[in-house]
Amino acid sequence: MLRAKLILKIAGSELLVIKTAAVVEMIHAASLLHDDVIDDAYTRRAKPSLNALYGNKTSIMLGDILYAKGFFELGTISPEVAKIISNAVIQLSLGELKDVSLSNAFNTDKAVYLEMIYQKTASLMEASAGAAALLAGKPKESYMTYGKNLGLAFQMIDDLLDITADEATLGKPALHDFEEGKTTLPYIYLHEALPSHEKETLKSLHAKKLRPVEQQWIKSKMQEHQIIQKAYDEARQLIEEAIALMDSRGEAALSGIALQMIERDF
Ligand code: FPP
Ligand code: MG
Repeated sequence: MLRAKLILKIAGSELLVIKTAAVVEMIHAASLLHDDVIDDAYTRRAKPSLNALYGNKTSIMLGDILYAKGFFELGTISPEVAKIISNAVIQLSLGELKDVSLSNAFNTDKAVYLEMIYQKTASLMEASAGAAALLAGKPKESYMTYGKNLGLAFQMIDDLLDITADEATLGKPALHDFEEGKTTLPYIYLHEALPSHEKETLKSLHAKKLRPVEQQWIKSKMQEHQIIQKAYDEARQLIEEAIALMDSRGEAALSGIALQMIERDF
């Protein structure tokens, strides 16, 4: 419940703030219900997903119910807050479409990856922080930048964990993203670093079920070219900017949340 946590830390615990936090979590849950249908994912947080248990139709409709109830409540909070959150949902949907279409081929363009993770993940954190700042009468822009950086770093670290964490920790097979066709930042960096014949080998492994020896090849090449460190440094830089911004405003709790993000296990 990271998004709700941000809202409460920024704006306190007035009823309207608590409502906003609850609504954002309902919208986030709705987006994950739809996402698991789109991704054909049968596990969520190491448990069977709702679509695995009850089918796609139930998941889509439950998502719609959460979404409709959430937006009704937003209408009772403020038009400005509703507008920020509504814009984020448009970005989420565009990001999800981009994520799906990017999986059809090996993407080597870092800017395209960054735009997609901004839309898919960071936009709702940016909007959550902005809405909370509005409610608390704090300067919206600083908090939105904080939320955006946090969201980008969160997705980058999540993409890294798909490579470094074991199956038991992830609740899904390791290197699952690449098998699904997702060329996340480490794969873009690895592609840049490899000599041309190895670039072809990497591309030939894209979007297919990997044998253990192929998984090992990818992991050893990542190690050889220090790719994990490079991608991690990029996430850390975003977090450092977010921390500096919050430190300058005396927001120690928000700096703490940002710090926790890069101190996750690898
Ligand atoms: C997870 O990405 C997906 C998202 C963060 C956004 C999904 C957004 C939509 C389906 C559109 C919005 C819809 C509504 C109803 C608000 P992922 O697949 O990379 O991550 P995962 O490993 O957690 O599945
Ligand atoms: Mg998914």
